[in-house]
Amino acid sequence: MTNRWRVGAVVPLLCLAAAATPVEPLRKGEAAASQETSLAPGRRLLMDYGWRFTRGDPDGAEAAVFDDSGWRKVDLPHDWSIEGPYDQNAATGGGGGYLPTGVGWYRRSFTLSRAQRERRVSIEFDGVYQNSDVWINGHHLGARPNGYVSFQYDLTPYLDPGENVVAVRVDNSRQPNSRWYSGSGIYRHVWLIVTDALHVGQWGTYVTTPRVDSASAEVTARTTVVNDGTAHRRGTLRSAVLDADGKEVAHAESAINLEAGASTDLIQSLVVDEPALWSPDSPALYTLRTTVSDAAERTVDATDTRFGIRTIAFDPGRGFLLNGTRVKLRGVNLHDGGGPVGAAVPEAVWERRLRLLRKMGANAVRTSHNQPAPEFLDLCDRLGILVMDEAFDEWTWGKVPHGYHEYFAEWGERDLTDFLHRDRNHPSVVIWSLGNEIGEQHAPGGEDVLRKLRDVAHREDPTRPVTTGNDHIDADDGPATPGFLQLLDVVGYNYVDRWHERRELYASEDHLAHPDWKLVGTESVSVRGTRGEYSLGDDPRRVRADYTSGMIRAEQLWRWEAVHDYFAGDFMWTGVDYLGEARWPRKSSTSGVLDLVGFPDDGYYFYQSRWIEAPMIHLFPHWNWPGREGQTIPVLAYTNCDAVDLYLNGRFIGEKRIEFPRQGTSQSWNHYDRPQIFPTTADLHMSWDVPYEPGVLRAVGKRNGEVVATTEVHTAGAPAALRLTVDRDTLRSGIRDVAHVTIEVVDSAGVVVPSADPMVEVSVGGPARVLAVGNGNPTDHTSYGIPRRSAFHGLLLAMIQSTDRSGPLRVTARASGFEPVSMDLVVVPGRPLPRLR
Ligand code: GAL
Repeated sequence: MTNRWRVGAVVPLLCLAAAATPVEPLRKGEAAASQETSLAPGRRLLMDYGWRFTRGDPDGAEAAVFDDSGWRKVDLPHDWSIEGPYDQNAATGGGGGYLPTGVGWYRRSFTLSRAQRERRVSIEFDGVYQNSDVWINGHHLGARPNGYVSFQYDLTPYLDPGENVVAVRVDNSRQPNSRWYSGSGIYRHVWLIVTDALHVGQWGTYVTTPRVDSASAEVTARTTVVNDGTAHRRGTLRSAVLDADGKEVAHAESAINLEAGASTDLIQSLVVDEPALWSPDSPALYTLRTTVSDAAERTVDATDTRFGIRTIAFDPGRGFLLNGTRVKLRGVNLHDGGGPVGAAVPEAVWERRLRLLRKMGANAVRTSHNQPAPEFLDLCDRLGILVMDEAFDEWTWGKVPHGYHEYFAEWGERDLTDFLHRDRNHPSVVIWSLGNEIGEQHAPGGEDVLRKLRDVAHREDPTRPVTTGNDHIDADDGPATPGFLQLLDVVGYNYVDRWHERRELYASEDHLAHPDWKLVGTESVSVRGTRGEYSLGDDPRRVRADYTSGMIRAEQLWRWEAVHDYFAGDFMWTGVDYLGEARWPRKSSTSGVLDLVGFPDDGYYFYQSRWIEAPMIHLFPHWNWPGREGQTIPVLAYTNCDAVDLYLNGRFIGEKRIEFPRQGTSQSWNHYDRPQIFPTTADLHMSWDVPYEPGVLRAVGKRNGEVVATTEVHTAGAPAALRLTVDRDTLRSGIRDVAHVTIEVVDSAGVVVPSADPMVEVSVGGPARVLAVGNGNPTDHTSYGIPRRSAFHGLLLAMIQSTDRSGPLRVTARASGFEPVSMDLVVVPGRPLPRLR
């Protein structure tokens, strides 16, 4: 929640001032923004490899000639904070998860061919946290305070025929500067862009679909063509739309006629017949292939931009409409970090997390509270996830002493513009959030700041609405000003149930008072908890609420959401636990329904029971309560079945029912489509009081009287073995792919032992390495890079990362008192993107 550090005056904006991915080339239907195309080989070179790094701030490290031979060799993306150690007195405090920050330097040398040197060469950073300064051959290229935006510098005038040296200083020493774990360093990819003087500008394609129906769609391509040379250039811009099979389905050509040093925006209109529409159920993607040829009809530049054809609208009465159909946003908030890998998150780690959230039934993500990595949005395009892309957590008002408010006046508009340019082709992005719990929402003059930002967003992307996440809607100490809320295209509510009678009414009052407002929940409370921890209310060490009541607020909210169409949906806090926002000895917030390593907590299944159709039952807690024989233990279920019968050791305990929303009569009075049941409370969970005896709890779920799902919870015996499972048994080389190996501690019957936390050592034989080992325990202070860690409530996760080599691979887990256990995986040749040598 907002903890304001400084109440600053609202100052006007002073400053007036797009991406590729490291995944293998696209398979059918896959997406990646603005990728390399075979038509312009060598245009975009991955520059992640072969860097030198040091912590500290050595003098003269920006110079071309400097002895960095004693620095560490690192490959990017790289986050030095995650290496630890955790320290209760760390400058970040709990906000940064008690991890180190400070200053660090990176250097990399490279030599270009004569052909490359005759071209335009620039360097692009996807994200550096934070306050980066970049030099080439001792020449200062620029500084960028914002740790999440992508930025580019032109290297051409400073290149040397021999060796060139890029030096980057990263200053994350002014602390605290973030309310959550940010990481430190060049934690996203770096690219070298090599083009002809006549070329497509940075983030230079903007694709929109102004008219869409099932018969055809109009696609508008706006392309910025730049002539960086010293001569007048003529040529042709060709834009072609390719379908998922790579077949050209439309094209347009325009003449280029550019003075030296000039640039122009060319607008082309293309028609796609019988378009495949993008949606979460069917994330169909197209490619805009942009080709620039010169007067001699030689191709001089080419880019590919992935896009989707779909319509979006927020409606005051019907909520969010995708392709004309109402879709409730079943959203999660996600911070940028990846748990054990810190801020440098391999794409495969995000893919696993996003697939788990899709399996939970989530269809939307809010990128709280900053611009995500480009490949994150590519994944959302591909997996069919709707995105609220969020820009800031602070404008002029500060929440932490050295937060973004220190830079907003100078950089706010520039950062926002770059953010919009980079992300506006993604079909997954359906709304921009300009900020989270911004102080200006209830400050005099706050609307002036909002108006400027909103106008930038409308100017740069008129196709999407803007919102902000407002936490002061009805606050006694300063409610959000009507002028501020009126300016938003969609009014965003953080914790819509927070104020007074809104606890029951939610946004109803505003809907009545402002029937033209479009409303969305930007953040709401979730089912919090620590995986595997249960309090029966008599354990003085457990301060958190009993597991029997943790879901109540989320249930109340989703009962309301489910029957109020005008509210577009909500984003719960959070989908995955994150480092930071913690109090020692905890290092993480414990708010995720997936823990820090992606193991589901019970809360995950609450959302699944509300958000998926396929029958499911989740029964909890575990059934190992030695010493409590005969004591009543509440047993709970999250389910989407109508009725569940519970049995203990074959004895019937009782049947429970859920009917929400309740069915009304149809056809005639007292005619019901489904069997009528006795009225229930409006609970969305079931609960039985069961006198404890060890054995088997069995739940049998029914719909309309038919058994559709069963699940069991067994009392575990003594730990007897380690069991390994993996999310994928084939990795690809050259793209730093990741397999997630789950290590379970099981009894002799294969039941996970919830109390078993042995120390486990993980090793790898073959062409891979142990990237990180984690267990989801918020108080475990072992560094993630150490391949030795105790299990937590019977589980441990090892992240295994491929290298540039392929071949068989064996992962082994060892623990004292257990037989070592191994699993064979294989690394097959991947298709790495072109790299700078
Ligand atoms: C919200 C805030 C989030 C996070 C959360 C913690 O108010 O927007 O960033 O701090 O509280 O519960």
